[in-house]
Amino acid sequence: MTASSKATITLTVNHQAHRLEVEHPWTLLHVLRDLLDLTGTKRGCDRAECGACTVLLDGVPVYACQMLALQVGGRAVVTIEGLGDVQHLDPLQQAFLDNDGAQCGYCTPGFVLSAKALLDQNPDPTELEIRRALSGNLCRCNAYGRIIESVKAAAQLLSEAQPRP
Ligand code: FES
Ligand code: FES
Repeated sequence: MTASSKATITLTVNHQAHRLEVEHPWTLLHVLRDLLDLTGTKRGCDRAECGACTVLLDGVPVYACQMLALQVGGRAVVTIEGLGDVQHLDPLQQAFLDNDGAQCGYCTPGFVLSAKALLDQNPDPTELEIRRALSGNLCRCNAYGRIIESVKAAAQLLSEAQPRP
Protein backbone atom coordinates (compact mmCIF):
# COMPACT_ATOMS: atom_id res chain seq x y z
CA MET A 1 0.00 0.00 0.00
CA THR A 2 1.56 3.31 -1.04
CA ALA A 3 1.12 6.61 0.75
CA SER A 4 -0.85 7.91 -2.25
CA SER A 5 -3.57 5.33 -1.65
CA LYS A 6 -4.63 7.14 1.50
CA ALA A 7 -7.01 10.06 1.79
CA THR A 8 -8.49 12.16 4.53
CA ILE A 9 -12.25 12.39 4.88
CA THR A 10 -14.62 14.04 7.29
CA LEU A 11 -17.50 11.93 8.44
CA THR A 12 -20.28 12.64 10.91
CA VAL A 13 -21.18 9.57 12.91
CA ASN A 14 -24.00 9.71 15.42
CA HIS A 15 -23.86 13.53 15.33
CA GLN A 16 -20.14 13.63 16.06
CA ALA A 17 -17.72 14.89 13.40
CA HIS A 18 -14.60 12.82 12.65
CA ARG A 19 -11.59 13.55 10.48
CA LEU A 20 -10.20 10.22 9.35
CA GLU A 21 -7.31 9.02 7.25
CA VAL A 22 -8.60 6.11 5.21
CA GLU A 23 -7.13 3.78 2.63
CA HIS A 24 -8.85 3.47 -0.71
CA PRO A 25 -10.19 -0.09 -0.33
CA TRP A 26 -11.60 0.43 3.17
CA THR A 27 -15.33 0.08 3.54
CA LEU A 28 -17.59 2.13 5.77
CA LEU A 29 -18.11 -1.05 7.80
CA HIS A 30 -14.37 -1.31 8.43
CA VAL A 31 -14.19 2.35 9.48
CA LEU A 32 -17.12 2.04 11.88
CA ARG A 33 -16.06 -1.20 13.53
CA ASP A 34 -12.29 -1.09 13.40
CA LEU A 35 -11.45 2.62 13.54
CA LEU A 36 -14.32 4.04 15.58
CA ASP A 37 -15.01 0.91 17.65
CA LEU A 38 -18.72 1.05 16.85
CA THR A 39 -19.17 -2.71 16.87
CA GLY A 40 -22.97 -2.58 17.04
CA THR A 41 -22.82 -2.59 13.24
CA LYS A 42 -22.34 -6.26 12.41
CA ARG A 43 -20.32 -7.96 9.72
CA GLY A 44 -22.27 -10.90 8.36
CA CYS A 45 -21.85 -11.92 4.74
CA ASP A 46 -19.68 -8.92 3.72
CA ARG A 47 -21.22 -9.18 0.24
CA ALA A 48 -24.60 -7.35 0.22
CA GLU A 49 -26.77 -10.30 1.13
CA CYS A 50 -27.66 -10.24 4.83
CA GLY A 51 -28.20 -6.63 5.94
CA ALA A 52 -26.41 -7.15 9.27
CA CYS A 53 -24.23 -4.13 8.46
CA THR A 54 -27.14 -1.76 7.75
CA VAL A 55 -26.62 1.85 8.86
CA LEU A 56 -28.35 5.08 7.93
CA LEU A 57 -26.49 7.31 5.48
CA ASP A 58 -28.16 10.73 5.37
CA GLY A 59 -31.24 8.94 6.69
CA VAL A 60 -31.27 6.19 4.07
CA PRO A 61 -30.47 2.57 4.99
CA VAL A 62 -27.35 1.26 3.25
CA TYR A 63 -25.14 -1.79 3.54
CA ALA A 64 -21.97 -0.46 5.18
CA CYS A 65 -20.01 -3.41 3.76
CA GLN A 66 -20.73 -2.12 0.24
CA MET A 67 -19.83 1.55 0.72
CA LEU A 68 -16.25 2.68 0.36
CA ALA A 69 -15.16 5.11 3.05
CA LEU A 70 -14.15 7.48 0.27
CA GLN A 71 -17.75 7.53 -0.98
CA VAL A 72 -19.16 8.79 2.29
CA GLY A 73 -16.87 11.73 3.01
CA GLY A 74 -18.86 14.75 4.18
CA ARG A 75 -21.99 12.72 4.89
CA ALA A 76 -23.82 11.73 8.06
CA VAL A 77 -24.04 8.17 9.36
CA VAL A 78 -26.22 6.85 12.14
CA THR A 79 -25.42 3.49 13.70
CA ILE A 80 -27.31 1.56 16.34
CA GLU A 81 -25.22 3.32 19.00
CA GLY A 82 -26.71 6.62 17.80
CA LEU A 83 -30.31 5.65 18.46
CA GLY A 84 -30.37 5.43 22.21
CA ASP A 85 -28.61 4.10 25.26
CA VAL A 86 -29.58 1.83 28.11
CA GLN A 87 -31.17 4.68 30.05
CA HIS A 88 -32.89 6.24 27.02
CA LEU A 89 -33.88 3.60 24.53
CA ASP A 90 -35.28 4.58 21.17
CA PRO A 91 -38.92 3.42 20.82
CA LEU A 92 -37.75 0.81 18.31
CA GLN A 93 -35.19 -0.59 20.74
CA GLN A 94 -37.83 -0.64 23.48
CA ALA A 95 -40.31 -2.38 21.20
CA PHE A 96 -37.79 -5.05 20.17
CA LEU A 97 -37.12 -5.69 23.86
CA ASP A 98 -40.80 -5.80 24.79
CA ASN A 99 -41.74 -8.06 21.89
CA ASP A 100 -38.80 -10.44 22.01
CA GLY A 101 -37.73 -9.19 18.58
CA ALA A 102 -34.20 -10.50 18.96
CA GLN A 103 -33.11 -14.11 19.40
CA CYS A 104 -29.32 -14.27 19.02
CA GLY A 105 -29.48 -10.54 18.23
CA TYR A 106 -26.86 -10.53 15.49
CA CYS A 107 -29.27 -9.20 12.87
CA THR A 108 -31.05 -6.82 15.24
CA PRO A 109 -29.08 -3.57 14.71
CA GLY A 110 -29.62 -3.84 10.97
CA PHE A 111 -33.34 -4.53 11.32
CA VAL A 112 -33.75 -1.67 13.80
CA LEU A 113 -32.07 0.81 11.47
CA SER A 114 -34.07 -0.31 8.43
CA ALA A 115 -37.21 0.07 10.54
CA LYS A 116 -36.06 3.48 11.77
CA ALA A 117 -35.75 4.73 8.18
CA LEU A 118 -39.25 3.42 7.48
CA LEU A 119 -40.91 4.97 10.54
CA ASP A 120 -39.16 8.31 9.97
CA GLN A 121 -40.81 8.45 6.53
CA ASN A 122 -44.02 6.60 7.29
CA PRO A 123 -45.03 6.55 10.96
CA ASP A 124 -48.10 4.36 10.38
CA PRO A 125 -46.99 1.62 7.98
CA THR A 126 -49.05 -1.38 6.96
CA GLU A 127 -47.63 -4.84 7.57
CA LEU A 128 -46.82 -5.11 3.87
CA GLU A 129 -44.91 -1.83 4.00
CA ILE A 130 -42.97 -3.09 7.03
CA ARG A 131 -42.13 -6.35 5.25
CA ARG A 132 -40.98 -4.47 2.16
CA ALA A 133 -38.82 -2.09 4.22
CA LEU A 134 -37.15 -5.02 5.98
CA SER A 135 -36.73 -7.17 2.89
CA GLY A 136 -33.00 -6.40 2.71
CA ASN A 137 -32.37 -7.84 6.16
CA LEU A 138 -32.05 -11.55 6.91
CA CYS A 139 -32.53 -13.27 10.26
CA ARG A 140 -30.89 -16.66 10.54
CA CYS A 141 -32.86 -17.35 13.74
CA ASN A 142 -36.08 -16.94 11.76
CA ALA A 143 -37.51 -14.42 14.23
CA TYR A 144 -39.33 -12.58 11.44
CA GLY A 145 -42.76 -12.75 13.06
CA ARG A 146 -41.54 -11.14 16.28
CA ILE A 147 -39.50 -8.60 14.36
CA ILE A 148 -42.59 -7.47 12.43
CA GLU A 149 -44.57 -7.28 15.67
CA SER A 150 -41.76 -5.21 17.22
CA VAL A 151 -41.90 -2.67 14.41
CA LYS A 152 -45.68 -2.43 14.69
CA ALA A 153 -45.32 -1.90 18.44
CA ALA A 154 -42.72 0.83 17.87
CA ALA A 155 -45.11 2.63 15.51
CA GLN A 156 -47.73 2.44 18.25
CA LEU A 157 -45.30 3.78 20.87
CA LEU A 158 -44.40 6.67 18.58
CA SER A 159 -48.02 7.53 17.89
CA GLU A 160 -48.75 7.57 21.62
CA ALA A 161 -45.75 9.82 22.25
CA GLN A 162 -46.71 12.21 19.44
CA PRO A 163 -50.46 11.96 18.81
CA ARG A 164 -51.26 12.90 15.25
CA PRO A 165 -53.87 15.65 14.72
S1 FES B 1 -22.45 -7.79 6.02
FE1 FES B 1 -23.17 -6.27 4.67
S2 FES B 1 -24.92 -7.13 3.73
FE2 FES B 1 -24.11 -8.75 4.96
S1 FES C 1 -32.07 -12.99 15.92
FE1 FES C 1 -30.42 -14.29 15.33
S2 FES C 1 -30.03 -13.78 13.25
FE2 FES C 1 -31.80 -12.67 13.77
